[in-house]
Amino acid sequence: MKALSCFAFCLFASQVIAAAPPPPDLPASAYKARRDQVMNGLGGCAAVIAAQGHQPSGVTGEFHQDGDFYWLTGLNEEGAWLEFSPKAKTIKVRLWLQPRDPEAERWTGPREAISPALLEKWGVDKVSRGQPDMVRSAALSGCVAIIAPLGKAKDERADVKLARDAASAAGAKIEYKRTLLEKLRSAHTPDEMARMDYALALTRLGHQAAARNTVTGVSEKFVQAQMEHAFFANGATGLSYGSIVGSGENGAVLHWGRNDRLLRAGDLVVIDAAAEYGRYATDITRTYPVSGKFTDEQAKVYRAVYQAQEDVMAAIKPGVSMPDLQKAAEDSLRRAGYLDKFIHGFGHFVGLDVHDVGDYEAPLPVGAVITIEPGVYLPERGFGVRIEDMVEITATGYRLMSKDFPRKLEDVEAWVKAARK
Ligand code: GLY
Ligand code: MN
Ligand code: MN
Repeated sequence: MKALSCFAFCLFASQVIAAAPPPPDLPASAYKARRDQVMNGLGGCAAVIAAQGHQPSGVTGEFHQDGDFYWLTGLNEEGAWLEFSPKAKTIKVRLWLQPRDPEAERWTGPREAISPALLEKWGVDKVSRGQPDMVRSAALSGCVAIIAPLGKAKDERADVKLARDAASAAGAKIEYKRTLLEKLRSAHTPDEMARMDYALALTRLGHQAAARNTVTGVSEKFVQAQMEHAFFANGATGLSYGSIVGSGENGAVLHWGRNDRLLRAGDLVVIDAAAEYGRYATDITRTYPVSGKFTDEQAKVYRAVYQAQEDVMAAIKPGVSMPDLQKAAEDSLRRAGYLDKFIHGFGHFVGLDVHDVGDYEAPLPVGAVITIEPGVYLPERGFGVRIEDMVEITATGYRLMSKDFPRKLEDVEAWVKAARK
């Protein structure tokens, strides 16, 4: 029985994704290289960053590590800290883990014992339990760099507070270096691209399931379940965000998440849902016709949104910035007569988080991954259209990462037809 189900699954999996999956976790050496880059950027100042839960929009329940902390450590555990102490003699990078708690561990699973193997796994100079002595590090360095987001004063992060208090207690100066992490995180390495590409292959399977199931009479929730089954059955490690299945007038609601309407003949269904792999997010939207064909009115809107994507892609040249691309999207939809129906930004950075960090003003770095997601929303006509793709910024322009998804109107109709055979 076991062999049979494995056989069935393996056959299915190997038929649908040609590439072998990269291991979900990056090697310890990748995290060490990142910490070395941060250490180089600190200019000798001490720094600290704390683990903390972060929910991608709409996803609830399990702990989801803050992107900065994950990027630096690969550790998906609460209560941890990473301390940079550049002027210390030997322990320059130290990982602090929360104390063991046998009672809590019976409920949520064991925390790792500190051992030479653990030290090797995390690739830092020392692993301890507790909280960093930042006053000591600040005194040694004479300055403290704040590398975490400042946020609002009233809900200042614990690491920003610890850094400020330590600087004040040690008489050290503070340097604001938030852009250090943003810059490093937004220029993705080939290792990261491989995981996002694989996550896109999984996402494509989900969208195939969606195209097959966007039929009259089923619920949006049913479509969501079919998609998510395809993601997880094929190896997704998570959802990049809460799945949006917006049929009819719900397609005009940007972050529709209730998914409780029944699909009707003639509806368009805006499906914004994507798999995560190895903690890397993807973000894809497609708009499917329940009847298999777009009406003339729907097709006119679809073509305008498609053209806006084309115009944004045509504007991607070395040195381009996010505002340049926003303008390209707006100019395109103005020409089509729909600018007032385009009510959100054209796109955002993607990486460890679906709405990832990056510089929204400066020229885009090589290795940045962004979405291109124009949309036109006509609640008064009972539908919306969004098409969302992902591109990698390259030295000469861009690579359309989601090129295996249908995008042209005729290709979407053909894909829906083929999926329902
Ligand atoms: N899925 C959320 C977004 O497109 O930004
Ligand atoms: Mn998006
Ligand atoms: Mn999206």
